[in-house]
Amino acid sequence: MKKKFYFGTNTKMYKTIKDTRAFVSELQELTKDISRDDITLFVIPSYTTLKDANELKNEDLLMIGAQNMGWEEQGQFTGEISPLMLQEIGTDLIMVGHSERRHVLGETDEQENKKVICALNHNFTTLLCVGETEEQKEYGISEEIIRIQLKKGLYGVTKEMLDKLWIAYEPVWAIGVNGKPATKEYAEQIHIVIRETLVEFFGEEAGEQIPILYGGSVNRENAVPLSRMEHIDGLFIGRSAWQADNFNAIIRDVLGL
Ligand code: PGA
Repeated sequence: MKKKFYFGTNTKMYKTIKDTRAFVSELQELTKDISRDDITLFVIPSYTTLKDANELKNEDLLMIGAQNMGWEEQGQFTGEISPLMLQEIGTDLIMVGHSERRHVLGETDEQENKKVICALNHNFTTLLCVGETEEQKEYGISEEIIRIQLKKGLYGVTKEMLDKLWIAYEPVWAIGVNGKPATKEYAEQIHIVIRETLVEFFGEEAGEQIPILYGGSVNRENAVPLSRMEHIDGLFIGRSAWQADNFNAIIRDVLGL
């Protein structure tokens, strides 16, 4: 087994407060015997459930993240949630640029960049998601797109801010009910491109430390093979992780427990 492995789930616009409370409690209970020297575990539930999830979490076992964040502390930004509000309720992590934010809600690389800078400046673990569309893949420009998303998304980030930066590679065509999971070879190839770009940006020592997670139709069949790829540091899972027992089973499969 490699160094520490990352496991997380984004519950999207599913799970009410009641559902989230049950999920967080069950997940913690089921995984409490697994050493956190071996794994980092995180859940990113919807906004209205965050306060409850933060209150319920055992900090030694679980990190709780927000699915989005405004990039100013306050102001005339109706519908946005500020970093101060998320700090106030004990949120650990901010996800930035999930595929659905980019492609359903129309967020741009420039907006993701402002959020990344703001989240890092407020000391949040910051998970920047990148991924190409099916069309971009067809044109053979996946690697270029990933580099652009990274270079724009991380513009202005300095080495000193890197401690809490994580990246998720989630090809748009692999996500959700109609998604086809990337092969482990394809995912590995893009993870290598991401690693090279991070090293170009921040130098070898710092660039090598940033965890790179894979997401997009991860399930019980493909989790283990994906996790064995040298450049995949974690799995970011949607549907297959929304039942705590299935998520726990995936974690144990990967760890060989
Ligand atoms: P999925 O979702 O595992 O259900 O494809 C992944 C994601 O959107 O992060």
